[in-house]
Amino acid sequence: MVSILSSSSSFCGLRRCLVLLVFLVQQAAAANFNQDFNITWAPDHVRVLDNSQLLQLTLDQASGSGFVSKNQYLFGNIDMQIKLVPGNSAGTVTAYYLYSTASPNSHDELDFEFLGNVSGQPYILQTNVFTSGKGEREERINLWFDPTADFHTYSILWNPQIIIFSVDGTPIRVFPNNEKALGVPYLNKQSMSLYSTLWNADGWATRGGLDKIDWTQAPFVASYTNFKADACTNYNTDYASAQACASSGDKWWNQPEYQTVASDDTSKLSWVRQNFLIYDYCSDTQRNPVPPPECSNSHI
Ligand SMILES: *[C@@H]1O[C@H](CO)[C@@H](O)[C@H](O)[C@H]1NC(C)=O
Ligand SMILES: *[C@@H]1O[C@H](CO)[C@@H](O)[C@H](O)[C@H]1NC(C)=O
Repeated sequence: MVSILSSSSSFCGLRRCLVLLVFLVQQAAAANFNQDFNITWAPDHVRVLDNSQLLQLTLDQASGSGFVSKNQYLFGNIDMQIKLVPGNSAGTVTAYYLYSTASPNSHDELDFEFLGNVSGQPYILQTNVFTSGKGEREERINLWFDPTADFHTYSILWNPQIIIFSVDGTPIRVFPNNEKALGVPYLNKQSMSLYSTLWNADGWATRGGLDKIDWTQAPFVASYTNFKADACTNYNTDYASAQACASSGDKWWNQPEYQTVASDDTSKLSWVRQNFLIYDYCSDTQRNPVPPPECSNSHI
């Protein structure tokens, strides 16, 4: 960058050079899918476009596709803008999730799963939380917008006290640390990689499997842009340093305002849960005659 600026100083005045500098810094900060991710499944079904600022996963009868972050993360905030499969997406699932790979039998995982639908019918956003290998904590919401028309931001804020799933800055689910209070393992020991896959799940996804994939509509395409991770990265093999980074008092996510849902966000969270929540494992008494322990303190 220095050499570009000095060689261009002969033809650009201060103002133009500042504009150029700002542009270069923005380019450096923007998501770069080739730099930040590896393709995990079917490279010929993945497109990286627009100077590596846009990634598209595709699904057809031959294959789905997927990617993984090169980095692993522990605490912080992760944002991705996603535009889901438009049109008749029945039977498709776009999974977007954090997953720890170090100990397969006791892994941690935070899931967003988007269940497609026939044209005009609502997508379902399913979330799930695995701690130490145990999941079965599904919640489902309908979205308050058409997630196929535009990009929307799906975020995970994750710190030693709380995990908050958000959509366009509106919290949709929280998972507080109930390790001490209720003995529920928390996601504070393993760093996680960020994955996404687009796949055929027409055995169960849409109306419980009634609506199958219409392959005449293939390829199905989900698009990703503006990935941002502000987190401790790459401490997966060094637990002591990971903990030191993650719990360091000067990390923004350890400041008091991030330890609970911010007061002006609690009303948004209740708005989502009152109007859009269609399934909550905590109130599924058929499946859980005795609600799991965290259910007594999961929606603060
Ligand atoms: C990504 O790909 C590079 C180059 O093949 C490899 O060294 C690295 O281990 C991969 N990382 C992940 C997380 O798959
Ligand atoms: C699809 O649309 C139907 C009809 O509106 C709805 O019952 C269902 O919950 C929607 N989503 C899925 C994933 O089945």
